[in-house]
Amino acid sequence: MAVYRSFLVLAFAGCVLSEFGAPFEPCDKDDIKCLSAATESFLEKTCHGLPDYDIKAIDPLIIPELKYEVDPDMGLYFEFKNLNVTGLKNQQISDFRMDTDKKSVVLKTKATFNIVGDVKISLTKHNKVFNGVYSAAYTALGNSKYGYSLVQKGDLEYFEVGPETNSCEILGEPDIKLDSNLQNVIDQDADARALKPSFETKKVTLRKNTLCRVVETAYITVIHNIRASAKIYPCRAFFNKMCK
Ligand SMILES: *[C@@H]1O[C@H](CO)[C@@H](O)[C@H](O)[C@H]1NC(C)=O
Repeated sequence: MAVYRSFLVLAFAGCVLSEFGAPFEPCDKDDIKCLSAATESFLEKTCHGLPDYDIKAIDPLIIPELKYEVDPDMGLYFEFKNLNVTGLKNQQISDFRMDTDKKSVVLKTKATFNIVGDVKISLTKHNKVFNGVYSAAYTALGNSKYGYSLVQKGDLEYFEVGPETNSCEILGEPDIKLDSNLQNVIDQDADARALKPSFETKKVTLRKNTLCRVVETAYITVIHNIRASAKIYPCRAFFNKMCK
């Protein structure tokens, strides 16, 4: 504990630290307002990562590679590289349910994302590839479900966060742009144009699916950080009236 404390005092110098040196106050598990404030405080102080504690940077969060089959029928396949995702440090808890009997958690947070990265768009049925830059601005809910257990270490109990399942919902209309060169090439390509009517009918769904894939991928790191902080701070640093 002494080691943690001296490190954290340096890392969060100037901040008021709660017991155990955590950059957030413990909450009652049903107190969404308290949980939101704690999450906000945690994100603000850790969004650039704490490598010594295996807490990764989440704002910006770089997704090195993401492949997604947008529509098998149309033969539309996207491959993103170095996707720069910003917005996660301002995510807000929109729902948190902890079932202490089943030892499971459902967490939903809302964030406004700005993403930009290289994209390779393939028309797999025509063996065609278009390269360029893809960017999008949108609001989404990231949802995660995971199980946990409480494990005693010394006098205190710690959470062990199990594997998570992530899902997502896009709120409102996303704003998507291809760079003008890529857009021109696609507009002028005969095969791409032939797919356009079919794309237009499914556009809203296809775009939402693609952007949700980005959120779900980003969420892997968000949950990773929760798992890592559960190793640093005991259960009592997170919740009142629940643990030793
Ligand atoms: C990601 O985007 C943000 C905001 O536009 C920018 O400040 C940052 O430098 C970018 N990071 C990388 C690695 O490109």
